Amino acid sequence: IDPALDLAAEIARLRRERNAVILAHYYQEPEIQDLADFVGDSLQLSQAAARTGADVIAFCGVHFMAETAKILNPGKRVVIPDLDAGCSLADRCPADAFGAWKQQFPDHKVVSYINCSAGVKAHSDIICTSSNAVRVVESFPKDQKLIFAPDRHLGRWVMRQTGRDLVLWPGFCIVHEQFTANRVAQLKARHPDAKVIVHPECDATVSRMADFVGSTAALLAYVAKAPGRTFIVGTEAGILHQMRKARPDAELVPIPADSGCNCALCPYMKLNSLEKLYLALRDLQPEIVLDEALRLKALGPVERMLALG
Ligand code: 13P
Ligand code: SF4
Repeated sequence: IDPALDLAAEIARLRRERNAVILAHYYQEPEIQDLADFVGDSLQLSQAAARTGADVIAFCGVHFMAETAKILNPGKRVVIPDLDAGCSLADRCPADAFGAWKQQFPDHKVVSYINCSAGVKAHSDIICTSSNAVRVVESFPKDQKLIFAPDRHLGRWVMRQTGRDLVLWPGFCIVHEQFTANRVAQLKARHPDAKVIVHPECDATVSRMADFVGSTAALLAYVAKAPGRTFIVGTEAGILHQMRKARPDAELVPIPADSGCNCALCPYMKLNSLEKLYLALRDLQPEIVLDEALRLKALGPVERMLALG
């Protein structure tokens, strides 16, 4: 790429020429969030993908998010800036192993977190995100036995909220798993008036210490409206960009990753860049391609989730 190129202007031009829409997750770099047509959490992004009239979806997020957009839009081109932008939850739940594992529970229905591959979605009865997981689980009769995959922490949090028992696939997010109760206790001691807000992908020892647990969009909405001034934030640091815009007066204290970094960054989300977004719009590559039979199997569970609203 010519270093003299005005990337933002070129991206705007290509977006017009391609009739493209740029969707970005809250964990993307601020410069990507700022030029996206829509920024949201996983549920909002899948809703935006379902309703777009664009011919091309440039999905600035991780693979399972772009793949979900493709499941919903077989006739559109879905491109992602970096095809290697995976997710530890999706990558550690291979569809074949999951299909074999679930055979042990023949009388269970399967609720899968959207952070999984199309193959795992195809093995599921319904999909959920962190913002609707409780509602999705409660949409089943109380006596219906359920498997919840692939995030054990989100699954345990849903168990606590609903009082229901769930069979859990033992997956976890490598970013949120780094937050520890000790770190939170240290930060609370340093900021006694702060509200602790965390994502439900955190371990139960951390989420039990929180004043509020929610999806990225819910955490942002909480900060925007809460009367307090200091917030200890337990999720990927990309979300701080919109939080700062919503509450320039607030002090935002990210929980440090236990690796010693002063905040937690998702190595997959951060593979995307403005340069790669420009190339993806220019070349319409890398493109998400899905086998049609698999897409159709994965579509039903995603549509069941979207129908819940
Ligand atoms: P949200 O749906 O809350 O944005 O979460 C997505 C994710 O990958 C969290 O790690
Ligand atoms: Fe996956 Fe965790 Fe990254 Fe979210 S933060 S995309 S769950 S690895």
